Amino acid sequence: MSPTFRFQCHFILFFLTMLRADSQHLQLQEATTQDPFLLLSANLKRELLGEQVYRRALRCLDMLSLQGQFTFTADQPQLHCAAFLIAQPDETLAIQVDSVSMDCQRGDFLKVFDGWILKGEMFPSSQDHPLSTAERYIDICESGSSRRNIRSSQNVAMIFFRVQEPGNGFTLTIKMDPNLFPCNIISQTPSGRFTMIVAHQHRNCSFSIIYPVAIKIADVTLGQLSGPQWKTSSTDCAGTGDFVELLGGSGLDPSKMMSLADLCSPFHGPAQMKIGCDNTVVRMVSSGKHINRVTFEYRQLEPFELEDPNGNSIREFCLSSL
Ligand SMILES: *[C@@H]1O[C@H](CO)[C@@H](O)[C@H](O)[C@H]1NC(C)=O
Repeated sequence: MSPTFRFQCHFILFFLTMLRADSQHLQLQEATTQDPFLLLSANLKRELLGEQVYRRALRCLDMLSLQGQFTFTADQPQLHCAAFLIAQPDETLAIQVDSVSMDCQRGDFLKVFDGWILKGEMFPSSQDHPLSTAERYIDICESGSSRRNIRSSQNVAMIFFRVQEPGNGFTLTIKMDPNLFPCNIISQTPSGRFTMIVAHQHRNCSFSIIYPVAIKIADVTLGQLSGPQWKTSSTDCAGTGDFVELLGGSGLDPSKMMSLADLCSPFHGPAQMKIGCDNTVVRMVSSGKHINRVTFEYRQLEPFELEDPNGNSIREFCLSSL
């Protein structure tokens, strides 16, 4: 596993853990200062008034997984800053630019990217994103007041910024919106379960897990027709338009990852695999002719499982290279 990517993943994990602690602390603080009945009515009131906003300062290198208002103020010249935004799998992000106090003429910038980029690799890959790579960057400085509300296409987005003058900065409000047709997703957690459904859409969808995992594919349905009709068809995926592929690799871009397995109907599950790669992706290729569905469960591999790949009958990938 490349040490830089592992560091970046650990950094992300560290921030996710910290953010959870942050929000728990927040709730705890609220709960202890008010009795339950008061808390209830106060919350209700705030909700009705739409006032319940979580606020905090944004750091030069940050990770956001909560709705709220975030303010960055430079305490020194900050040249290379980035914030990773992540919502739940079935949500997209809405980024509202509240105020900007920056010198864009002299090299400051504030850009939103529709996805994540690490080490030059992007998620979703350029093939799987409806917009071109250039269109996925939105320059807040250039666009002026015309693009003050930005929506992500999936549950992740990024903000890149440079603020050279101490005291300058910006304020953003981040909201999560429900996504009825989630397609490309990065998992917020190292363990979980997900059902991906692509119904009559000619598009490819990837679910990315940025941890080494044991994954169990429980159920694959490709097409509306299930049962006997499928049993007579070929088990070779190459001929079929629709299939599920399992990818492993060391970067974020699914199109640069190694194919570990293809699954197409008829599928006799469950299939379980241990994937010691930095990143694991379940990708569904859809022709648009069918309703496709795949259900899977995953859990992070324990350190001892990464060190000792022997001793069980489960298929393993990426472990020998560690
Ligand atoms: C989906 O992926 C397949 C195989 O990787 C490719 O042939 C096809 O063109 C892709 N479809 C779309 C809509 O990008």
